[in-house]
Amino acid sequence: MGYPGLHRILWTREQFAVFRDASGQSYVVDAYCPHLGANLSVGGRVMGSCIECPFHGWQFSGKDGKCTRIPYAEKVPEFAKIKVWPSCEVGGMILVWYHCDGVSPTWQVPEQEEVASGAWVFHGTTEHFVNAHVQEIPENAADAAHLSFLHEPWIMNGVDLRHTKSKFWRFMKHHWKAEWQPEPDMHCSCLIVKHSLTIFGKHFPLLDMMISARQIGPGLVFLIFQHDFLGCGVMIHSVTPVEPLLQHVTHRIYYQRSVPSIIPKFLLWAESIQFERDVMIWNNKQYLSKPLLVKEDAAIQRHRRWYSQFYSENSPKFPSQNTGLDW
Ligand code: FES
Ligand SMILES: [Fe+2]
Repeated sequence: MGYPGLHRILWTREQFAVFRDASGQSYVVDAYCPHLGANLSVGGRVMGSCIECPFHGWQFSGKDGKCTRIPYAEKVPEFAKIKVWPSCEVGGMILVWYHCDGVSPTWQVPEQEEVASGAWVFHGTTEHFVNAHVQEIPENAADAAHLSFLHEPWIMNGVDLRHTKSKFWRFMKHHWKAEWQPEPDMHCSCLIVKHSLTIFGKHFPLLDMMISARQIGPGLVFLIFQHDFLGCGVMIHSVTPVEPLLQHVTHRIYYQRSVPSIIPKFLLWAESIQFERDVMIWNNKQYLSKPLLVKEDAAIQRHRRWYSQFYSENSPKFPSQNTGLDW
């Protein structure tokens, strides 16, 4: 979305029209025109920093939502307005602040400096739809035990959990040391992962990689890769609820300009293999609000306490949810 244009985003309870003016500024407004309800994102036009409705040509400012022109009316009434959603652009994504009680943003998403300055460049993206409770995906960060079981088999074992423990590639294994902690900035948390690889049980330190995964809010994670000779980069992971129990997940990778693109492309592919193992679990599991945990799983409970800040009393619930979150 690097040029003026108009885009449509479908979201759980909201429909947005997203557009960019010639100066590059992006705006997010309600998709439905308050005049007679036409969808601005289907046939609407960008006019300066306004969007023009395709039905009768009313124009609305992306800055404050005010109607600036009604082609056939003498006067534009003061109350003619469309809702503008607080949004920002980070790492090639347009992010929208949504609060079910309409509270204004209480924190901002920081830019990854190297991405903003162009020192790290874009090398690709992956996209998945996952049938899971919205909390399952971030909770993975605090579930250290699954790393050494689900993610231990070498990536060539693939994503189908019926075959990932097969003997053929057993001579190569991933090893993970991970620790998850909330940060003093309440809406952030951090997972530090040390990844190593063994071949026939022998550890090759040259292949060790440090990954720090900083979660910002409920649906965004910056995974910073650091490797002694393969360089540094960031993978930005986002989770957007599309409808109840359906999440849209993207991974976008930016990497040091000087590193050949095969490295970040390989990392993105390797990440997608590991991620799809989780997806097979998520697509088929239940969310348990009262899981049966042992002492070593304590971080999962801490993660749930941390994540509970993103719900409020009026967070949308479904009738079957009245007795808890097991839906
Ligand atoms: S419905 Fe949008 S201008 Fe009439
Ligand atoms: Fe996982």
